[in-house]
Amino acid sequence: MNRERKPLAGQRLGLFGRGGSGKSTCAVLLAKALARAGYTVNVVDADSTNEGLSQALGADRTPDSLLDWFGGTVFSGGRVTCPVDDPVPMAGAHVAPEQLPDRFVGRTPEGIRVFLAGKVGLLGPGAGCDGPMTKIARDFAFEPAGAAPVTVVDFKAGIEDASRGVVTSLDWVIVVMDPSYAGVRAAVIMKLLLDQMRAGVPPATRHLASPELVALTRRTFQEARTQGVLYVLNKVPDNDTEHFLWQRLLEVEIQVVASIREDASLRQAWLEGAPLYSATAEAEAAKIVRALEQERGGCAEKPAAESAAEPESH
Ligand SMILES: Nc1ncnc2c1ncn2[C@@H]1O[C@H](COP(=O)(O)OP(=O)(O)O)[C@@H](O)[C@H]1O
Ligand SMILES: [Mg+2]
Repeated sequence: MNRERKPLAGQRLGLFGRGGSGKSTCAVLLAKALARAGYTVNVVDADSTNEGLSQALGADRTPDSLLDWFGGTVFSGGRVTCPVDDPVPMAGAHVAPEQLPDRFVGRTPEGIRVFLAGKVGLLGPGAGCDGPMTKIARDFAFEPAGAAPVTVVDFKAGIEDASRGVVTSLDWVIVVMDPSYAGVRAAVIMKLLLDQMRAGVPPATRHLASPELVALTRRTFQEARTQGVLYVLNKVPDNDTEHFLWQRLLEVEIQVVASIREDASLRQAWLEGAPLYSATAEAEAAKIVRALEQERGGCAEKPAAESAAEPESH
């Protein structure tokens, strides 16, 4: 199939979940599975705290931060401002390859490009606001000529980036669960949040100063490109645990698309800061790609007018 016409070309996928659940692990596995399926792939490291994603991907360098490229945070008078929920689109966020110097782009042997939004610690004491990085994660798009890339965004732990406007720029949300009660609850809360968004519940705007910003925030949520949520289990130790979790999740109408086993080689790679390799885990990640392609296939088969008139089905 022509790369440009592949179902996930141009789509933006964001990973969410508790700290340590395996977001970055899934980001790596998913990026590899997408590359293997013939996609052009961009990975954006949008976790303002943890390091090591470039190494886990096997990239040729840890790229310099896009925060530097965009001129720093508001603290240094740059283009990327706080507050964290500023709905105003970032100027110049769509970047062509000839604009961006090599030091801002990592490359893996599979040709996956890696970008880094920024790390809070490196900005020094007193510069703890990571709103600018979140804004980069929301708006940055690298646009090479030819096939539109699939963009995988690896977020920091927790729910806050998902509840912010950042989620509006994602086509698909992927929730990663560790085998725990809290892992399941995190998925339930994410489902609730996305269901509310899709039902048109207006976003919180009381913190915004001007009526223009309130209107812009409401419009951003109304026009959100978010199409759905997929759920992935990670670090599953055995069949009994898997069965238990599947049952618990079915009770809350959550279906799991992939179940990644606890895998000594993955743990070891993270320990050493080395590239991740696991055929079994990559096979699970390929299921995520197939599930997304099926969802997209379902949309693409409908004529535009008909699908616009239909009620939301997922
Ligand atoms: N499938 C797995 N099998 C074994 N260990 C894993 C697996 N996934 C993640 N880990 C371990 O959990 C840690 C956190 O994973 P990571 O992907 O960095 O989580 P997150 O990005 O959600 O914080 C890793 O450093 C690794 O030790
Ligand atoms: Mg991570």
